[in-house]
Amino acid sequence: AGPCDLYSAGGTACVAAHSTTRALYSAFTGSLYQVKRASDSTYLVITPLSAGGVANAAAQDTFCASTTCLITVIYDQSGHGNHLTQAPPGGFTGPESNGYDNLASADGAPVTLNGKKAYGVFISPGTGYRNDATSGIATGDAAEGMYAVLDGTHYNGGCCFDYGNAEISNTDTGAGHMEAIYYGDNTAWGTGAGSGPWVMADLENNLFSGANVGYNAADPSQSSRFITAIVKGQANHWAIRGANAASGSLSTYYSGTRPSASGYNPMSKEGAIILGIGGDNSISAQGTFYEGVMTTGYPTDAVEASVQANIVAAKYATTSLTSGTALTVGSSISLRATTAGYTTRYVAHNGSAVNTEVVSSSSTTALKQQASWTVRTGLGNSACFSFESTDTTGSYIRHDNFVLLLNANDGTKQFYEDATFCPRTGLSGEGSSIRAWAYPTRYWRHFDDLMYVAKEGGVDTFDATASYNDDVSFVISTGFA
Ligand code: AHR
Ligand code: AHR
Repeated sequence: AGPCDLYSAGGTACVAAHSTTRALYSAFTGSLYQVKRASDSTYLVITPLSAGGVANAAAQDTFCASTTCLITVIYDQSGHGNHLTQAPPGGFTGPESNGYDNLASADGAPVTLNGKKAYGVFISPGTGYRNDATSGIATGDAAEGMYAVLDGTHYNGGCCFDYGNAEISNTDTGAGHMEAIYYGDNTAWGTGAGSGPWVMADLENNLFSGANVGYNAADPSQSSRFITAIVKGQANHWAIRGANAASGSLSTYYSGTRPSASGYNPMSKEGAIILGIGGDNSISAQGTFYEGVMTTGYPTDAVEASVQANIVAAKYATTSLTSGTALTVGSSISLRATTAGYTTRYVAHNGSAVNTEVVSSSSTTALKQQASWTVRTGLGNSACFSFESTDTTGSYIRHDNFVLLLNANDGTKQFYEDATFCPRTGLSGEGSSIRAWAYPTRYWRHFDDLMYVAKEGGVDTFDATASYNDDVSFVISTGFA
């Protein structure tokens, strides 16, 4: 059985079932998600390898070879047509044209399920999915359940990495107009034990960690790589639950009456579905979504126990985030541009600016050092890398507003993540392309001899489509210095 078969058997059927990694019904053979590739703007629908099985990631890899792909649709497997697509502007506007949010990279969150490769939905700040015209989703004070499987290590304090029920207007229509799973370490509203991240409930104008507005000691900080997060609600009763999605069983962090703060009892749910954003299209959060559902009716703890067992049996596990030229931590490298006319230029720095310079064996020692980088374990993710300056030790290449800079490590999580890059085989077929860990749609690119993390076809001039693949492909060699 799949998770939604278990909910159905319990009398609380799925009315939305979203996953880019697997079928959520044992008989499901239909569309899981759709990707769009940049090279020719064509689309591919990904289906399970077999009924009830894992997504056909190999089909995506073939379709997206030597180009970049975005996830355009996350289909609803429940038959209610509650598909998730690029979120439109609302109280906040997204960074894409016409104020839409960004779409996620199709290969930003690789994992394996029972050893088979699949891809989750890696939400960077600015990325979001939504459906404002749903069918079967709870409205008003009606009961519903939700679970989501998330990356417990990918989060931030921005508002709001959510999955669940939100406003149909994309704007904040007041307390009680949302009921969504939240994951992260935002402290503006609720908090739990420790420093987070926490599973909380976004009920609009507040993230709740339990009975009290603000702090609730029973909501623990999460530390697992894979997290099962649950929020469910019915008339004057709701709950937050969670587990390690790779082993063990669910714990209940809160189960009780609705908040006493005004507006949450009864609830005024509107029935839109959001992923990765707040109800008003707040776009500051990050996180990774693998699968999740919304039910009609309030699922029992027993049904959720069987769903958790099903998730554990799916055996989510990590897999490599890198490919291309092998990098050795502690070694010195130089990176040469491959675009015709620029092949004598290397990634270098001039003060805090990261640029390209013509460098050769007869260059000055100072220039050779400016064009040499020490490979370090990724400050923000040890599966990837950071690049420390040779002449300015303690300073690393990081992106800021998508411009590469050489900055001193300030010890913050933001810096660590901005300074973490995951190289892969060059998009052009030559060398390596250096992907921003926190923005997997973006790669190091030289543009007018300055360096950026550029998204093919994005809104900035340095995102230009022309010569993108060559501009993001660098030949890595032993460092000049
Ligand atoms: O409830 C927290 C957030 O507040 C909601 O997601 C958003 O709509 C509002 O800004
Ligand atoms: O480069 C994109 C973002 O810009 C970085 O993550 C952040 O530091 C800055 O706001």
